[in-house]
Amino acid sequence: MKELWLGSKCAEVPIIQGGMGVGVSRSSLAGAVAAQGAVGIISTAQIGYDEAGFEQNQQECNRKALVKHIQRAKEIAGGKGLIGVNVMVALKHYREHVQIAAEAGADVIICGAGLPADLPKIIEELHMPADQQPAIAPIVSSAKAAGLILKMWDRHYGKTADFFVVEGPKAGGHLGFSVDQLEQYAHQQDYDGEILAILEAKKTFEEKYSRKIPVIVAGGIFTAEDIAHIIQLGADGVQIASRFVATEECDASLAYKQAYIDAKESNVRIVKSPVGMPGRALNNTFIQELDVAPKRVTKCYNCLEKCNPAQVPYCITEALIRAVKGDVEHGLIFCGANVGCINQITTVPTLIEELKQGFMLA
Ligand SMILES: Cc1cc2nc3c(=O)[nH]c(=O)nc-3n(C[C@H](O)[C@H](O)[C@H](O)COP(=O)(O)O)c2cc1C
Repeated sequence: MKELWLGSKCAEVPIIQGGMGVGVSRSSLAGAVAAQGAVGIISTAQIGYDEAGFEQNQQECNRKALVKHIQRAKEIAGGKGLIGVNVMVALKHYREHVQIAAEAGADVIICGAGLPADLPKIIEELHMPADQQPAIAPIVSSAKAAGLILKMWDRHYGKTADFFVVEGPKAGGHLGFSVDQLEQYAHQQDYDGEILAILEAKKTFEEKYSRKIPVIVAGGIFTAEDIAHIIQLGADGVQIASRFVATEECDASLAYKQAYIDAKESNVRIVKSPVGMPGRALNNTFIQELDVAPKRVTKCYNCLEKCNPAQVPYCITEALIRAVKGDVEHGLIFCGANVGCINQITTVPTLIEELKQGFMLA
């Protein structure tokens, strides 16, 4: 098993636990993952949902909670592994979350749900000493997007990515594919070709900047064999999210974890989201009611840059908060395509030990 270098930071175990908003991956999960030598990721999306005063001032509560969870995760990690954050580009406060996370000592910043065109600039403007700057990475789903963001960062800022997260069609949460593409991937097409094309697309920039740009693949990775396959393709590590939900350390309620354990493959649906990308979630009363009629939004939680509460099918913040707190029938439960294979709650150390076998097989 090769250690994973992300910019100037090193993790002994090349596994990233994927960021999961709202409140599913915070300090308890991310800290436990890092304590095993891997990379624990805190999602910044409405991270302060359970702070006093959240209903009145989301932004202030999110700021406070973000700093608190980064510090707490680092304490739990005890100097091992890396602690990072996942910031969605689609968030209204994306830029501010990146700044707060960097200044609070996040080792890694991963941005998805849109291409983080100005991420190097946001970091540069903080004027942090080079060794304290977080490693930065975009999440992409195609070689086209990978090429585009690398060209943008090169042309505008003379910078390249510290690494990439490549999120495939089996991932949970928001997906960088159209519904038609998801159909094709589900029935006929293989994603390996796209991974290979991304590995090829980054080579020009590795040569130009004389450095390696690690590629971390995500989406539906479940077994040690899945990991071995990804590493044999040429990737440097994996990002896994759904499996970490069914752990004692995961920050979601027990009811949320139980919903994962009870889920079968046939319970998984592709749903519309106010973010404007399709999402993968568990089919429950909430989703079935949406099939009949949209849910009127009565309160705005100021989460998305582009959201018109009068036009969206539901309020995503409200739906995700309900779910994480345990109202699993009336909330939105994002999940990866392989959630049906999860059948018990485990612990983070046990899960990481199991996953590490994949690197030995490769
Ligand atoms: C419950 C849940 C919430 C997620 N939330 C986010 C998020 O806020 N931002 C993001 O970039 N990805 C999010 N994801 C995607 C994961 O970080 C990860 O890349 C993906 O789910 C990997 O596939 P897997 O779950 O099959 O392992 C979420 C996934 C799940 C299951």
